[in-house]
Amino acid sequence: MTRPALPVLAALALVAGLTVAAPSQAADGARLFNLQCKTCHGAKSTPMGPALAGVAGADIAGREDFTYSAGLKAKSGTWTDAALDAYLAKPMAFAPGTRMMVAVPNAENRAAIVTYLKTLK
Ligand code: HEC
Repeated sequence: MTRPALPVLAALALVAGLTVAAPSQAADGARLFNLQCKTCHGAKSTPMGPALAGVAGADIAGREDFTYSAGLKAKSGTWTDAALDAYLAKPMAFAPGTRMMVAVPNAENRAAIVTYLKTLK
């Protein structure tokens, strides 16, 4: 996969109204994120939820500007693709006691959202 080029291609695809196979995943992810995540996850952390810029690859519950639940803090490791997928599939199963209740049951939608999360810097 040509990861670094995806956001650029996705932006171009959006502008041009093209439907290109690979970049549409990031575009779908952006759309899903805006619908399902943005109310709680903005550019800055708020009591509603932590900012997600740079979350892919970062420490789980690692931000200084957000007070996480004990459940999420108890998880060690980093947000790999697999960890993000598992958390979004069933937050309470991944991190019992987490305060995030929103799940994304559809695997394709989760993959699109994870692809999009990687573009958040
Ligand atoms: C109703 C508010 C709300 C919505 C909607 C929401 N979240 Fe969250 N999210 C939270 C809260 C609160 C936390 C912190 C959970 C904790 O401390 O247990 C969190 C944590 C996270 C984390 C871990 C962040 C970190 O720094 O470790 C990720 C990743 C995440 N959310 C992704 C998403 C995605 C993707 C969506 C959309 C599908 C979403 N969230 C929708 C409230 C929300």
